[in-house]
Amino acid sequence: MADKTYRRIILVGPPGSGKGTQAAILAEKLQITTISAGELLRAEARTGSELGKQIAARIDFGKLVPSEIIVKAMLNEIAKPENSAGYIMDGFPRSMDQVEMFDKLIHTSEYQDKNLEPDLVLLLQVPDDYIFDRILGRSQCANCKAMYHEKFKTPKVFGVCDICGGKEFTKRADDTHETVVSRLRTYRSVTAPVIPYYEEKGLLRCVDGTGPIDVVSEKIRKIVGY
Ligand code: AP5
Repeated sequence: MADKTYRRIILVGPPGSGKGTQAAILAEKLQITTISAGELLRAEARTGSELGKQIAARIDFGKLVPSEIIVKAMLNEIAKPENSAGYIMDGFPRSMDQVEMFDKLIHTSEYQDKNLEPDLVLLLQVPDDYIFDRILGRSQCANCKAMYHEKFKTPKVFGVCDICGGKEFTKRADDTHETVVSRLRTYRSVTAPVIPYYEEKGLLRCVDGTGPIDVVSEKIRKIVGY
């Protein structure tokens, strides 16, 4: 058991490393909310609003959306009174300019009393050949967005979502071979620089994300301390 239980957690890792999967497990165990940057953006894209169209034009091709959009959206979520017990941020911050904006904003008068400073950054490490297998085999419940995989995480009853009983499953528009190549390139050039930054701050813990889902979550459990 760790000395303390962390409750303001950032999950970083390449596309398909298991951030969403592990965030959902952690959220249930810690009884705190997961805020997925990708899900927030996809939800806005689904509304068909003008902003949603601009977002879809980027995420469907694996390009990051402008930081101004996502930083404020994530902050608004974690600052909600119902999230005062903590948060898990999946896929944010994803660039040094997002880190800088976030660090600055949480210390402004609007947010400084809300205790939003992260206390742990978990880096999921997974090599590229795993990533293609995981992303290209992924599907999602069309209703509750629960995540599945054709080989590694199938529903208990074939064709029926474990969580909500939904029977429709979809694939993400950005889960193509070509887009994964572009997302990986972006991860290496734009996102990876946040890792040494958090390491220097003493917040970073690395997790080998290559084992089965329950083995990875056990490693995370030991670090998080629940
Ligand atoms: P986002 O939705 O965050 O996508 P991502 O980072 O590319 O990560 P994924 O969701 O693809 O994978 P994951 O690591 O969550 O893995 P998962 O658990 O699903 O972002 C999408 C897009 O939105 C970005 O490309 C960008 O355009 C935009 N965006 C997002 N954040 C942004 C930001 N901050 N700024 C600007 N733009 C932003 O697992 C994958 C599959 O593998 C699943 O099927 C799962 O069942 C399976 N699996 C998981 N763990 C294991 C395991 N241990 N063993 C076997 N299978 C496993």
